[in-house]
Amino acid sequence: MTDSGVLDQLGRPLRDLRISVTDRCNFRCRYCMPRERFNEDHTFLPRRAYLSFDEIEKVVLACKPLGLEKVRITGGEPLLRPDLHELVRRLSSTGVEVALTTNASLLPRQAARLAEAGLDRVTVSLDALDSKIHSQMTDSSIPVETVLEGIDAALRSGLAPVKVNCVVQRGVNETEVAPLVRRFRGTGITVRFIEYMDVGRTNGWQLGHVVPSADLLGYLQGEFDLTPVESDRPSDVARRWAHSDGSGEIGFISSVTEPFCGDCVRARLSADGRLHTCLFASGGHDLRAIVENGAEGQQLTEAIAAIWRRRADRYSELRSEETSALPRIEMSYIGG
Ligand code: GTP
Ligand code: 5AD
Ligand code: SF4
Ligand code: SF4
Repeated sequence: MTDSGVLDQLGRPLRDLRISVTDRCNFRCRYCMPRERFNEDHTFLPRRAYLSFDEIEKVVLACKPLGLEKVRITGGEPLLRPDLHELVRRLSSTGVEVALTTNASLLPRQAARLAEAGLDRVTVSLDALDSKIHSQMTDSSIPVETVLEGIDAALRSGLAPVKVNCVVQRGVNETEVAPLVRRFRGTGITVRFIEYMDVGRTNGWQLGHVVPSADLLGYLQGEFDLTPVESDRPSDVARRWAHSDGSGEIGFISSVTEPFCGDCVRARLSADGRLHTCLFASGGHDLRAIVENGAEGQQLTEAIAAIWRRRADRYSELRSEETSALPRIEMSYIGG
């Protein structure tokens, strides 16, 4: 271990833990959980396999001496997990920053309680404002208005800064990009456009479905007067651009055309307690077994440090036909 914690094979520290609390979701976004694959025949994790809040807290506490600064609660849809605010309360008391990625459909009811429990901020997945495109993409009867109400509830509850993540797919929602920028300009909300990635094996990803961020930026520069903004930290995944009149920012997450593995400080914990050192890892390390055996504190810290020291993942940088053929875990399982 160093002063800054533990370093992996490529000299990267562990700073960010993304915790999936369920692999279920009330949406069926076609790029993430296509209904024909995620239906009654799909085996979701049995609830008894979930890490308890107590166990998740132990893992977070064990990561802290390694330099952990931030946790992000994800899913599936994390707000489907009963009493999630209780987990937020526990994690917040560990002193790390606590963020949540959600589809916002349950935020109208839960935002205030989450904020009261110590949640710092939320990121909302929203790929379209047009109700027809939205319902086609999410394959759900929950209207886009409910998502927008969820965003408002987050703002009212002080869960700022709120970010909106939009996965852009060619021929599906490119037309939504400028309306999203317009809608959130001047609200303090940053919209980030994400290149569609080859996560999982069910979404039929093809390179041709990806809209390169450079193309999107070129198009948006014709619509808006944008100037580049320096990142706060090298590990930030988004390239930032600001409206030159000070009315806000947008961002681009370009893991396909400009991979950012070199600064990747993120570990992922699945709902059943497997620790993954890359979004594209084909396997995880069973932390649940270690925790259930009574490990906590120093012992658990050492187990996690040993996993991190062996880490050499840089999938997005190596992406090729060969790597595409490797087994991959679904995003709804490993966390967005
Ligand atoms: P904050 O800076 O804390 O707001 O979060 P973030 O910038 O880490 O962004 P967020 O967690 O919202 O991630 C946004 C999206 O970026 C994810 O949904 C993924 O699509 C993509 N992403 C995030 N982390 C990684 C990563 O480690 N590898 C790859 N390939 N993509 C990632
Ligand atoms: N490509 C890029 N981002 C994805 N997400 C899910 N699937 C993909 C994919 N194939 C991200 C979206 C969503 C979050 C939960 O996961 O950002 O907001
Ligand atoms: Fe659910 Fe988010 Fe996946 Fe859509 S992208 S199915 S909202 S987990
Ligand atoms: Fe990190 Fe893996 Fe994503 Fe690269 S592909 S940025 S190593 S999670």
